[in-house]
Amino acid sequence: MIELAPSILSADFARLGLDAQAAVEGGATVLHVDVMDGHFVPNITIGPPVVASLRKVSKVPLDCHLMIERPDEFIPAFAESGAAWISVHQEACIHLDRTLHLIAAHGCKPGVVINPATAVHALDEVLPLVHHVLVMSVNPGFGGQTFIHSSLKKIEALSNIRKSRRLGFRIEVDGGIHHDTVADVMRAGAEILVAGSAIFEQGDPRENARRLLKSALDAAKQPVRDLSAIAGRGATGNAGN
Ligand code: DX5
Ligand code: ZN
Repeated sequence: MIELAPSILSADFARLGLDAQAAVEGGATVLHVDVMDGHFVPNITIGPPVVASLRKVSKVPLDCHLMIERPDEFIPAFAESGAAWISVHQEACIHLDRTLHLIAAHGCKPGVVINPATAVHALDEVLPLVHHVLVMSVNPGFGGQTFIHSSLKKIEALSNIRKSRRLGFRIEVDGGIHHDTVADVMRAGAEILVAGSAIFEQGDPRENARRLLKSALDAAKQPVRDLSAIAGRGATGNAGN
């Protein structure tokens, strides 16, 4: 199932509930919440109280992307606040297996995230444990950055690994998703699309969500093409990258 997960990082925080609701009315079925601590990434955003407020006004799952050091210390608070999905960075977790089990023990769907510089094979041992793998297609920390095309081969590799190992995790992608990148991401095998600036930066979030989702669904109907044909971007599609 293809899902749009607007990142509220780009919303107007003074009218967060209304912006989030508009995106849901436009077809979003998940809300992506970017949590930054000023240490793991060079920015500070929001914490559990905002998740709790959003929970009151929105029925769709809240997908909390923790870009923080020592996530184990905060997982209980995010779970209590109403997070449905919690993802942690492979790069931030010394005991990743333990952290993923901790998320599940708190009743949330565990996800793991990899930065653009992290190879898919770093996840080999934890793929059976996760509900979703989030592939960063920008270096985390800010909305509105340019899509990094080398993430496409990682999405494709995950899709191949999932098939060959008969696993059930979902593939989410985050960063730089706009009308000009969404089709490549879909064809590579992503199913959950995080988009911040494309939804909230200008215009009506409802209409922006509707249009981006339509572009994604249209792309999913197209026959799969060879990603290596994307000129100069080095996408090979080799599983295990
Ligand atoms: C980046 C965040 C993203 C970001 C996406 O650190 O994890 O979710 O807000 O924003 P856009 O879609 O503008 O790249
Ligand atoms: Zn994110």
